[in-house]
Amino acid sequence: MDNFAFHNPTKILFGTGQIAAVGQEIPQESRILITYGGGSVVKFGVLDEVKAALAGRPLFEFSGIEPNPTYETLMQAVELVKRESIDFLLAVGGGSVIDGTKFIAAAACWGGSDPWDILLDGGATVKTALPMGAVLTLPATGSEMNCGAVISRKETRITLPAANGANAGVSMITKSQQDKLYFMHPAVYPRFSVLDPTKSYTLPPQQTANGIVDAFVHVMEQYLTYPVDAKVQDRFAEGLLLTLIEDGPKVLAEPENYAARANIMWTATMALNGLIGTGVPHDWATHMMGHELTALQGLDHARTLAVILPAVLEQQRDSKREKLLQYAARIWDLHSGDEASRITAAIAKTREFFESLGVATRLAAYGVTAEAIAPVLAKLEQHGRFPLGERQDVTLDASRRILEASL
Ligand code: NZQ
Ligand code: ZN
Repeated sequence: MDNFAFHNPTKILFGTGQIAAVGQEIPQESRILITYGGGSVVKFGVLDEVKAALAGRPLFEFSGIEPNPTYETLMQAVELVKRESIDFLLAVGGGSVIDGTKFIAAAACWGGSDPWDILLDGGATVKTALPMGAVLTLPATGSEMNCGAVISRKETRITLPAANGANAGVSMITKSQQDKLYFMHPAVYPRFSVLDPTKSYTLPPQQTANGIVDAFVHVMEQYLTYPVDAKVQDRFAEGLLLTLIEDGPKVLAEPENYAARANIMWTATMALNGLIGTGVPHDWATHMMGHELTALQGLDHARTLAVILPAVLEQQRDSKREKLLQYAARIWDLHSGDEASRITAAIAKTREFFESLGVATRLAAYGVTAEAIAPVLAKLEQHGRFPLGERQDVTLDASRRILEASL
C-alpha cells in the first residue's frame, strides 16, 4: 500500500427527514444562497422543505444550473453572490448543481482576472472559497462528499502557441468547441450534505441508471488497476460493486424501495469520497475520455463511461491482468476456465450489467460515429491528458484504439 493522508471534513446527515436539520448546520447570521437546477426540486417539493427548514433566515435563490453546468450560467450566480453579500451556499440537486455551486464558491473569492483559470489549472491556485452545504437528490457523482467539480464552457478562450509567430501569446475566444474541465480544492468540500434516500424516488429511470453506472465506474477507476496489497481498499471497493449489482436493479424495478435507495445513495457517496482511493493507484482514463465525449457529443456523463470502460478493460487487459482476475472471481464468481477466458467473461458481465440497467454500451447506440474520435483525441491532447491510466501507458494511439473499440 502506498503512503497517504486522508481527511474528509464533510458531515453527512443521512436518512428520512434530515432536511429539517440544515438550519442548525448553517451559521445563524449567514446570508444564504440556495442553488438548484432546472426545476425538479420545485416540482417535487424539496425546495419548499429546504426553505421551511430555513424559515426566517435571509434567503436568496439561483436556479437554472444545467446538467453539465456551464461557466456562463454560474458566473451569473457569482455576480448575485457579490451583489447581495452572500456568505453561505446551499446546493439542492444532483452532481451538476453541487459541482456548479463549488465553482461559484471558489469563483466568488477568486482574486485573479478570469475565474475560468480555476479550471485551466485544476484548482492549483484556489486559495479559499465560500462555505457551502448540499442536499442531494441524485446519487451518482459523490460530489456531495468530495472536493472536485466538473464545469463546462461553451466559449473557450485559447492562447495561441509560439508557432503562430506575431500572434503568439494572444488570447482569443473560439465559439466552435466546448470544454469540460475539472478542478479540485479542499476549500470546496461541502461543510455538510443531506442524504435523504426518499428524495431519489422521483428520479426518471434514465437518471437512476446513470447514477448506478457512474458510481460503478468510480469504484472501477480506483480498484481495477494493479495490486498493491491494499486489502481494506479492495474489499471496500468490492462491497460497493456488489451492492450496486444487487440493489441497482431493485431501485429501477421499485423506485420507492427505501432500503435499496438508501444502499444505492450511500454506495455512490462512498465510491468517490476518497476512502477507497487512499494508498492505491488510480486509472481515470475512462473519465477523461468520457468528459471530452460529453463536451463534444452531448452524451450524459454516465453513458460515456458505460461505453468506454469495457473498451478500456479490453485494451488494457494485459496490464490489468491480476486485478481483472480478482474482479472476475470476487464480483462475478468466475473461477473456471483459463485466465484469458475468465477475463473475457468478466468484461462481458460488466457490459451486460450496464445494458441490463438500460444503459447502452456502444457509441453507435447514441448515434456517434467514427468521425467523432479525432476531435476527442485532439481535445485530450489540448488538455494535456496524455499519457493516461495507472501506468501512464494509455497514449494517444492507445486512446484511439479504445475509442474505436467503443463504436
Ligand atoms: O435540473 P433538475 O431539474 O434538478 O433535473 C435534474 C437533471 O435534469 C434531474 N434530477 C436530479 N435529481 C432529481 C432529478 N429529477 C427528478 N428527481 C430528482 N430527485 O436529473 C438530471 C441530471 O442531473 P445532474 O445533476 O446533471 O446529474 P448527475 O448527478 O449525474 O451529475 C452529473 C455531473 O456531475 C459531473 C459530471 O461530469 C456531470 O457534469 N461529475 C462530478 C463529479 C464530482 N464532482 O466528483 C465526478 C463525476 O465523475 C462526474 O464527472
Ligand atoms: Zn463519474
